[in-house]
Amino acid sequence: MKTILITGGAGFIGSHVVRLFVNKYPDYNIVNLDKLTYAGNLANLKDVENKSNYEFVKADIVDGEAMLKLFQERQFDGVIHLAAESHVDRSISNPTEFVFTNVIGTVNLLNAACAIWNGQAEGKLFYHISTDEVYGSLGEEGMFTETTKYDPHSPYSASKASSDHFVRAYHDTFGLPALVSNCSNNYGSFQFPEKLIPLFINNIRNNKPLPVYGKGENIRDWLWVEDHARAIDVIFHQGKVGETYNIGGHNEWTNISLIKLMCEIMDRKLGREEGTSEKLITYVKDRAGHDLRYAIDSTKLQKELSWVPSLQFEEGLEKTIDWYLENEEWLQNVTSGDYQKYYEGQYQKR
Ligand code: NAD
Ligand code: TYD
Repeated sequence: MKTILITGGAGFIGSHVVRLFVNKYPDYNIVNLDKLTYAGNLANLKDVENKSNYEFVKADIVDGEAMLKLFQERQFDGVIHLAAESHVDRSISNPTEFVFTNVIGTVNLLNAACAIWNGQAEGKLFYHISTDEVYGSLGEEGMFTETTKYDPHSPYSASKASSDHFVRAYHDTFGLPALVSNCSNNYGSFQFPEKLIPLFINNIRNNKPLPVYGKGENIRDWLWVEDHARAIDVIFHQGKVGETYNIGGHNEWTNISLIKLMCEIMDRKLGREEGTSEKLITYVKDRAGHDLRYAIDSTKLQKELSWVPSLQFEEGLEKTIDWYLENEEWLQNVTSGDYQKYYEGQYQKR
């Protein structure tokens, strides 16, 4: 029986990966390690928390000693590393936190994996989950491939770029069996309502302003989170050690056209007159260093590992909006902070 560590499993993408692995692989022990920052919410995993192959450990990856002790105790066979500070706007107001978690936290996990796999790394894997934002910003043409030069602009993408480099350096220097994937913007259920799509769904429902940065002409390439989780499963099991895989759905939208589509769908679903929600659009000061365009070329993953996205964007967006409308309690708990009180004291910090 293999024991797999998933870090950041109480977050948005991590909770989908944990759910997929716990349900699909009953012969794996899945250990979800998470600090439960503002973004970590165990309510995201209610449907799997009592499964016999699932365990939660509350811990901070910045604590190197605790990581080493945990790896020595549990002798993990594989690591899927998602824990991170993930929001660009927060990285602008507090960059240092991003260095601690994203850079030092990742290096602590690499050290712990090297320590326990030293000389017997056959069949083991350290899989680091990263973002396409490390490649910087595109003009009107072109797409990011696995060989695009790194050119991060925000403190978030700089910290993720640094962690990617450390993972590859540990592979090259210490022979750590590692690989990296870089994915485009995700959307779907359980995303914290600070990111564009869930924030705007929540604001439209509550008739609050929709703060569009700059002119709304920036372009993002959106992928349904469950398709990202499926890609992570495929790469974890079939990816080649030492390689990089780009993940994305060839699905570019300017922010403003996406926001108008959301307004249109929500007017219909909430029984509002057409055009009502668009009136909430408010153009605000642009984000500092705002990357103009992201677009990812995932041909390598599609050709070599036969992964393809399963959902068209319009369908995925409708599903996502439905989920937030049906899960009002989740959204209210998250926006009020009550979700953290609910689980307080249930788990001991390591
Ligand atoms: P998230 O913010 O929703 O979740 C992050 C999780 O990490 C939370 O549960 C949080 O409690 C945990 N965490 C934070 N600091 C920690 C620490 N010091 N120790 C232990 N746990 C800690 O993030 P997400 O959107 O689910 O992103 C997950 C990963 O995927 C990140 O590495 C991110 O860079 C990457 N990624 C995200 C996107 C996206 O669109 N959201 C796209 C590509 C890649
Ligand atoms: P976000 O969801 O923060 O993801 P990222 O910055 O990692 O791409 O933002 C997506 C796009 O939406 C980005 O171009 C910034 C823009 N945006 C707004 O215009 N207003 C907002 O309130 C937010 C959160 C984002």
